[in-house]
Amino acid sequence: MLQSPSTSGNCEAGAARQCDMQDGKFITFEGIEGVGKSTNIDYLVELIEAHGHTVLQTREPGGTPIAEDIRRILKEHGDEPMSDVAELLLMFAARSINVNNAIRPALAAGTWVVSDRFTDSTRAYQGGARGFPQASIEWLADFVHGDLQPDLTILLDAPVETAMQRAGRRGDPDRFEVEQADFFSKARETYLQLAAQEPERFVVVDVSRDLDSVRADIGQIATLLLSN
Ligand code: TMP
Repeated sequence: MLQSPSTSGNCEAGAARQCDMQDGKFITFEGIEGVGKSTNIDYLVELIEAHGHTVLQTREPGGTPIAEDIRRILKEHGDEPMSDVAELLLMFAARSINVNNAIRPALAAGTWVVSDRFTDSTRAYQGGARGFPQASIEWLADFVHGDLQPDLTILLDAPVETAMQRAGRRGDPDRFEVEQADFFSKARETYLQLAAQEPERFVVVDVSRDLDSVRADIGQIATLLLSN
């Protein structure tokens, strides 16, 4: 049974964004490779649009032309090694552009934003898996997007072996997909810790179950979101 997330948006005392009834909601999907983000994102967007809202679907790194260029640099196996520091800073460089040029303007116009990954990916991958101190990541997060936090984060979770088997069915692994199980275990553990720390923002969906059960959970989340 799903726990009800705090989906009352931006108007609660202490909310991350200022209360404005015109603002759209900001929803992020997170999870390690192979958990099936695309299908579930498409389904949630379909349900939100069917309710009459306009939705901007975006992804990170990426989402705008410059940020997509940075995504290519981050994901390809170049001839020159990518340092972990450069990787961390490029993630935030791409995020800064996506936030300023796409996400904030959309939310201000009342458009809902559904993003495939956001700063929790940096916490999980650069923090948990690469080992950067979370305090440095929080400093960068505050510097780059300040008060902008997701209203709701859907963490798609599965055991690493299950997710890696599914991801392995796709061809040509990128610079992240070639990492070993230990890397993804650390990322997954960090995600689960983040979800435990912020239960009012996160919903964890167990995607190791059959597709119909997962879809039913996404439908239930949509109902909660749209009724607030
Ligand atoms: P994906 O969007 O196809 O999942 O690929 C993005 C890759 O980038 C994925 O392996 C996760 C990784 N990533 C980070 O390491 N840190 C980040 O902040 C983000 C947004 C993604």
